[in-house]
Amino acid sequence: MSDCTNCRSSDVNRREFLTKSSALAITAVLAACGDGIGGGATGPSNVNESVVLADYTALGTVGGIAVVSGAGTPIAVVRTATSQYRAFSLICPHAGTTVAINGSGFRCPNHGATFNASGAWTGGQRTSGLSEFTVALNSTAGTITITT
Ligand code: FES
Repeated sequence: MSDCTNCRSSDVNRREFLTKSSALAITAVLAACGDGIGGGATGPSNVNESVVLADYTALGTVGGIAVVSGAGTPIAVVRTATSQYRAFSLICPHAGTTVAINGSGFRCPNHGATFNASGAWTGGQRTSGLSEFTVALNSTAGTITITT
């Protein structure tokens, strides 16, 4: 109860009710969004893909990006240096839509989240970065193996 001497009891009760119910509503919305930045979709948890680099012309140059999805798993490989590659899940961490290559990064067609070539979120729908996989290069064979 309030100790306001100028307020009627019913006014105070209504005010307290509105204050407390607003706080509960905000708490409920934040809980529904997990960490408050939306989403919670995760990438595949069991990936083991072998990729022949010569099959993807985009990976012939540093900065090139190619979708190398295998077995239904949407994966992008980014060539970051002459002998370095990184691989990311294309499952949007916001709500699970497949993200597409967009210029030198990625964009989700669903709510517009954008990510750079390092998988970090850069704009649009606020969410976390793309999940990254482990990449092992076999330069003799000209292949990379992507694993979780
Ligand atoms: S699913 Fe919402 S931004 Fe990708």
